[in-house]
Amino acid sequence: RKKVTLGTLRSMYKKNEPIAVLTAHDFPSAHVADVAGMDIVLVGDSLAMVALGMEDTSEVLVEEMLLHCKSVARATTAAFTVGDLPMGSYEISPMQALETAIRFVKEGRVQGVKLEGGKEMAATIEKITRAGIPVLAHIGLTPQRQNALGGFRVQGKTSDSAMRVLEDALAIQEAGSFAVVVEAVPAEVASLITKELSIPTIGIGAGNGCSGQVLVQTDMTGNFPPGRFLPKFVKQYGNVWGDNFHAIKSYRQEVKARQYPAPEHTYPISQDAAHAFAA
Ligand code: KIV
Ligand code: NA
Repeated sequence: RKKVTLGTLRSMYKKNEPIAVLTAHDFPSAHVADVAGMDIVLVGDSLAMVALGMEDTSEVLVEEMLLHCKSVARATTAAFTVGDLPMGSYEISPMQALETAIRFVKEGRVQGVKLEGGKEMAATIEKITRAGIPVLAHIGLTPQRQNALGGFRVQGKTSDSAMRVLEDALAIQEAGSFAVVVEAVPAEVASLITKELSIPTIGIGAGNGCSGQVLVQTDMTGNFPPGRFLPKFVKQYGNVWGDNFHAIKSYRQEVKARQYPAPEHTYPISQDAAHAFAA
């Protein structure tokens, strides 16, 4: 497969071909996403929870994101690879954001960066974009601002708030983002935004009218313990946790019963040595 570039994404958008995006947090999760044909692989800061066991994304550090970006970038030989700027690494000024974005490219080896926010981030997006680093914007529900939003709540439900999301979309487009993640907004609002924009919208919990879709890999493959809360928009396509659990349980049983390793998992010695040991 040929490397996906901004040009590839642009021509997919023009042909109205949906853009398939998935998160990855390490080499194996990135490798499988790349081989399975993802157009964009996103090293989301959701790795704070799914890979590092943190409570939310506010805890994860730039250095931690960079380590994960590096491991992902070694696997994504085709997918366009984007790293999420973590909370605290870009809000202070466009200069701070550009410095962080440059580290993501130089050290994290990603092709683009994602950051959360609308109008208020326009100057920052412009600064990074002008330095030659593609920016994926993120509007609607912005999880890094959960405390200000009063939790993980659907955005754009009223006409006033829908209008604000649309204004954010137009502002980040004007600032030069190559695409925008639209999270947790009613499908009608996301569709309207998609029609108004001339850059791709990547929906998550935003209905089927977006230019593409993104999900957190561990959510859609079912790589989490039974009983975990999943947002309404997640479709679980697999049961990776269950498969792992059964594999590990079977291994344990066979070790305890001395069934593993069997002869076929064991190295033979030479005839000579066998005779010597038997004597
Ligand atoms: O952190 C993340 O995984 C994300 C995507 C879900 C868009 O921001
Ligand atoms: Na994120």
